[in-house]
Amino acid sequence: MNSAFEVPIVKRLEPASGHVELLVDSPVLAQGKPGQFCHILTPGTLRRPVSFSRLEPSTGLAGLLIQVVGSGTRWLSDRQVGDTLDVLGPLGRGFAPPRLDRPWLLVGGGTGIPPIYAALQAWRDQVSEPVAVVLGAKTRDALIMVKDVRQLGFEAELTTDDGSQGRIGTVMAPVQEWLAAHPRSQVWACGPTPMLRALHGATQGLSGPVQLALEQRMGCGIGACLACVVPAQPESPDGPAYRRVCTDGPVFEREELAF
Ligand SMILES: Cc1cc2nc3c(=O)[nH]c(=O)nc-3n(C[C@H](O)[C@H](O)[C@H](O)COP(=O)(O)OP(=O)(O)OC[C@H]3O[C@@H](n4cnc5c(N)ncnc54)[C@H](O)[C@@H]3O)c2cc1C
Ligand code: FES
Repeated sequence: MNSAFEVPIVKRLEPASGHVELLVDSPVLAQGKPGQFCHILTPGTLRRPVSFSRLEPSTGLAGLLIQVVGSGTRWLSDRQVGDTLDVLGPLGRGFAPPRLDRPWLLVGGGTGIPPIYAALQAWRDQVSEPVAVVLGAKTRDALIMVKDVRQLGFEAELTTDDGSQGRIGTVMAPVQEWLAAHPRSQVWACGPTPMLRALHGATQGLSGPVQLALEQRMGCGIGACLACVVPAQPESPDGPAYRRVCTDGPVFEREELAF
C-alpha cells in the first residue's frame, strides 16, 4: 500500500539487549507476507524499513522486531504501548510459500532472523519433509527469536561469530552439513550481504529453489529513488542489470542475483 497510515502499538517486548519488538494492531499489515516490510516514519522526513517478525491475520496483529543501530531505530525502540507509528506497507515482494515435497532449510542472520521466523510461523505445517532452522549472529545478545522458534516445535542450530552461544563461526558450517545430507532442499534466507553471498555460492547446483531476502539501505521504499539497487541477472553486454530491493525484492530467487 503506497499511502501512509497510522497503526497503534498494542504490545512492547524487550527480547534481548538492544532489541525491541513492537506488536501493532493493523489488519492491513497483518495480511502481509513473510519477507515483506513496512517503512516507518521517524523524526524528520526519513522512514526506516523493518521486516515483519510475526503476522497474525486472524487477530490483525503484526510484529516488528528492531535492533538499535542508530538514531532512527533508537527512536523506534523508545515507542511505548498506546503510541502510534506512521507506516507504509506491506511493501515489497515477500517469500513464496515453500514446496510441500522438499526438505526446507531456513537461515537467518542478525536482523534477518525476524522474517525467517515469520516464514516458519506461516508455513511450518505445510512441508511434509524435514525442516531445519539455522540462526547466526555476531554475539549471543543478537541471537534473537530462539525461544519463539522452539515454541513452534523446532530446535534451531545456533552460531555466533565469537562463540558466546552455539557453534563458533558463521551459519555456513551447519548449512553445508545440512545441504550435504539433504541435496533436494529448498532454502529460504535473510541476513547480511556476506552471508547471502556465501549461501548463493553454496547453493549453486542445488535442485530446489533458493530465496534470498536482502537488507539493503533504502530511501523512498516504493521504487522511486533508486537508492536500493543491486546488480542482478541477466547481465547484458553493457554490464549487469539492476533491481530495486524495495519493489523487486527484498526477496529474490537465487538466479536473479549477480553476487
Ligand atoms: C527490507 C529491510 C528489512 C529490514 N528489517 C529489519 C528488521 O526487521 N529489524 C531491524 O532491526 N532492522 C531491519 N532492517 C535494517 C534497518 O532498516 C536499519 O537498521 C535502519 O534503517 C537503521 O536506521 P538508523 O537511523 O537507526 O541507523 P543509521 O544511523 O541510518 O545507521 C546506523 C548503522 O546501521 C547501518 N545500517 C543502516 N541501514 C542499514 C541496512 N538497511 N542494512 C544494514 N545496515 C544498515 C549503517 O550503515 C550504520 O552503520 C531492515 C532493512 C531493510 C532494507
Ligand atoms: S528505496 Fe527508493 S527505489 Fe528502492
